[in-house]
Amino acid sequence: MFIALIGIQPAQAQTGKVQWQAKWLRIGYREDSIARPAQYFQKHFVADKKIKAATLYITAQGLYEANINGKHASASYLTPGWTDYNKRLQYQEYNVTELLQKGDNNLTVAVGDGWFRGYVGFDNIRNRYGKQSAMLCQLELTFTDGSRSTVISDESWKSGEGPIRSSSINNGEIIDATKTVNCDQPVKIAEIGYGTLIPTESNPITKHETFKPIKIIATPLKETVMDFGQNLVGWISIKLKGQAGDTIRIRHAEVLDKIGNFYTANLRNAQAMATYILKSNEEMIFEPHFTYYGFRYASIEWIRGKKAIVPDAADYDATAIALYSNMKPTGTFTCSNPDINQLQHNIVWGQKGNFLDIPTDCPQRDERLGWVGDAQVFSRTASFNFDVNSFFSKWMKDVAADQQPDGSVTHVVPDILGGFGGSAGWSDVATVVPWNMYVAYGDKAMLERQYPSMQAWVGFMEKNSTNNLWNKGFHFGDWLSYRSPDDDGSDAITDKYEIAQCFYAYSTELLIKAAKVLGKADDVSRYEALLKNIKDAYFKEYVTANGRVMSNTQTAYVLALNFDMLPEANRATAAQFLVNNIKSYGNHLTTGFLGTPYLCHVLSRFGYTDVAYTLLLQDTYPSWLYPVKRGATTIWERWDGIKRDGSFQTVTMNSFNHYAYGAIGDWMYRVIAGLDTEESPEGVGYKKIIIKPHPGGKLTWVNLDYESRQGKISVHWKIANNKFLMDVVIPKGTTAQINTPDINGANYKVQNVSSGVYHFEN
Ligand code: BGC
Repeated sequence: MFIALIGIQPAQAQTGKVQWQAKWLRIGYREDSIARPAQYFQKHFVADKKIKAATLYITAQGLYEANINGKHASASYLTPGWTDYNKRLQYQEYNVTELLQKGDNNLTVAVGDGWFRGYVGFDNIRNRYGKQSAMLCQLELTFTDGSRSTVISDESWKSGEGPIRSSSINNGEIIDATKTVNCDQPVKIAEIGYGTLIPTESNPITKHETFKPIKIIATPLKETVMDFGQNLVGWISIKLKGQAGDTIRIRHAEVLDKIGNFYTANLRNAQAMATYILKSNEEMIFEPHFTYYGFRYASIEWIRGKKAIVPDAADYDATAIALYSNMKPTGTFTCSNPDINQLQHNIVWGQKGNFLDIPTDCPQRDERLGWVGDAQVFSRTASFNFDVNSFFSKWMKDVAADQQPDGSVTHVVPDILGGFGGSAGWSDVATVVPWNMYVAYGDKAMLERQYPSMQAWVGFMEKNSTNNLWNKGFHFGDWLSYRSPDDDGSDAITDKYEIAQCFYAYSTELLIKAAKVLGKADDVSRYEALLKNIKDAYFKEYVTANGRVMSNTQTAYVLALNFDMLPEANRATAAQFLVNNIKSYGNHLTTGFLGTPYLCHVLSRFGYTDVAYTLLLQDTYPSWLYPVKRGATTIWERWDGIKRDGSFQTVTMNSFNHYAYGAIGDWMYRVIAGLDTEESPEGVGYKKIIIKPHPGGKLTWVNLDYESRQGKISVHWKIANNKFLMDVVIPKGTTAQINTPDINGANYKVQNVSSGVYHFEN
C-alpha cells in the first residue's frame, strides 16, 4: 500500500520542540471488551528519498511500545511513564534514523492499559484516568537533499489486535503466540488535544541486571519454582519449547513459606502472572511489555490440552531482567562486616526496585503507589546510591501538580486517592525532598521551582493550627513502629499530634533555609517568628516538668532532638532518656517510618555513636540485621515480615521490598564513613566537603566512593597497628575539612585541604 507522505502543515499546537499536527487515535471498531487486548495502530509509508535524520515523538493514554520495521523504536519501557495524566502527560522523543529506510516502512504501535486504565493500586481497580486508551505520534523526517516530511497519526492509519491478549500493571500479561498483529480496521479520531502534553522529564525505565535461576525447586506442594537469588523488579524473559497450544503460566513471589511452598498471599489482589500460549513446537522467546513484577521466585505451570505436565528442564530457559529508572550509580559503601554489606546491598536493591519512573512504596502487591512519606524518608539515602536529581525533579513537579488548593499535599503522587493528604511526615515531602536535592546536588532551580509548593504546605499547617499547635486532621503517625509480639504492653506508640508538631517545625525550618538561599528576606523573618512560636507551643504542650517528652518513646525523643524542638538546656537529658529507652528494650530500636531515619544521627550528635552501632549491629527483632539474618535481599516493609517462628506478618501488609527502613543508609554514608557536604550556598553539592568518620562497632575498615557532581570523592579508612588510617580523594575545584579521629572515635585532628589524594593518620 502506498500512502503519500504528508508535507509540513501549519502547526496546530506547540509543545517543547514539537508542532503537533498528529491526531489522537483510538481503535475504530469497538468501544471495548472485557479482556481488553492491547490495541495496535499501524501505518505503512514510503520514503521516496534517502533519510538523513528521523525523530519520533510519541505518547499514549495507556502504555505504548513503538516498532519500526519490526524493531523496537527505543530502549525505554513502560512509556510514557506515570504522571497525573489529567494535568501532565509526557511524550518521548526518539532518534529512529537507523530504523528507517528509503522505500517501504512500517510503523506499528501497541498500546496496553498501563496506569491509565489498567488494574492499578489497591483493590485492583481499573479506569483510574479513563475507560479508553489512545495514541498520538509524529515522525519527522529530514532527507539527504535537505527536504523534510512528517508522518502523523491520523485517519489514514489502521487499527487491530495482536498477540498481547491482556496486560495490566497489577495482574500481568497474556501473550498468545498463535495470534499475529492484524491491523485491518479503521481508527477513530479522539478529541483529546495537546493541552496536557509535556516533553518527557523521566529518567527512562530501561533494562539492567540479569539473573539466571540459582536453583529449580520442587516444592512440597509439587510446584516447579525457579529461585533467582535476588528479590528484584522487572520481568522474566523465557525461551519455551513445547507443543502448539501449550499454555505456560509464570507466577511471581518474593518469598517461600516456612515449609518451602510458593507464597503469594502478600500480593493481595495482584495476580502478577505471565501467561504464554505456544504457536508451534518451535522454540520461542517470550517477554512482557506492559507490566512488571516484584519477585525472587517464579513458579512455572505447564498445561497441555487440559492437563498440567511437569516441564522438562530442557523445555524452558529463563532469565530475570531488572527494570528500573535509568539513574547513574554514584555511591558504594563496603566495610569489614559482611552483614552490614548485605544491608547496604538490600538498600540499593530496594531503591532499584522502587524507582520505576516514580518512587513507589513497594513493587509487587496491588499498591505500587508513589507514597510521599516513604520517598521523603529515603530521599537523602537515595542520593548517595544513585544520581536521583532529575528523577526527583520530575516527580516533585507531580507533587506540586497534585497539591490541593488549601496547600495539603496528597499522600500518593500521582494522586489516585481523591486528594487524600495532609499527614505529618508524608506531606512534608514538599519541603524535605527539594532541600535534600539542593544539599546533595546544589540544585537551586528545583528549590526555586518548588518554593511555592513548600510555602503552601507550611501555610496549610499554619491554617490548621490553633495557638501555633497543629493538632488536627488525619495522620499516619510513626507508621509500623514496634509492636510487641507478646502483647506485654511494650508497644512503642508516639502521639500523632506530638509528631505533627515536630514536622511542622521541620518543614518551617526548611522553608526558612530555602528562603535564605533564594534571597527572600521578608519570608525569612516571617517564618523565623513562626518557627519560634511552633517550638514554644511544642514545649508547653509536650514537655513535662522532669524534661521528658509526652510520648516518652524513641521516636518522640528522636524527632524532638533532631528538629531542635527543645531548648539547649533540655537536650542532653532528653538524649539520655532516649538511650535509657533503647536499653530498656534490650538494646533494640522501636521506631517506625518517621523516627528511624534520624535515630542513629541523633545518637551520634549527642555523643552516643556506640549506642547507634549497637542498634545497627543488633540482629534480633526489631533491627536492621534481623531480616538480613533471615536471608533478605531487599529491605522489608516491617521489622518482622517473617516472624521469629518463621510465620509471616499479616497478608494485608507485608511487602519484602519497601525501602523506607533503608534510610539508615544515610547514616552509614555520612557518619560511619563520614562524608558530608556543607549546607551553605557555596558549599552544597560537595563543593565544600566535610569528612568526619566515626569508627566503632568493631569495624576494622570502611570504603566509601561517591561520584559527586564535582567528581569522585573517596574515604577509605582502616584500623591497623592501633592507629586510625585514612585515604581520601578530594575532587578538583573543591575544598575539604578533614576530621581524623583516633581509633576510639575521639580526639579528632582537623585539617583543611583542597583537591588531591591524601593519607591521614591518628
Ligand atoms: C504503604 C506505606 C505507606 C502507607 C501509609 C502503606 O500501604 O505501603 O509504605 O506509606 O501505606 O501509611
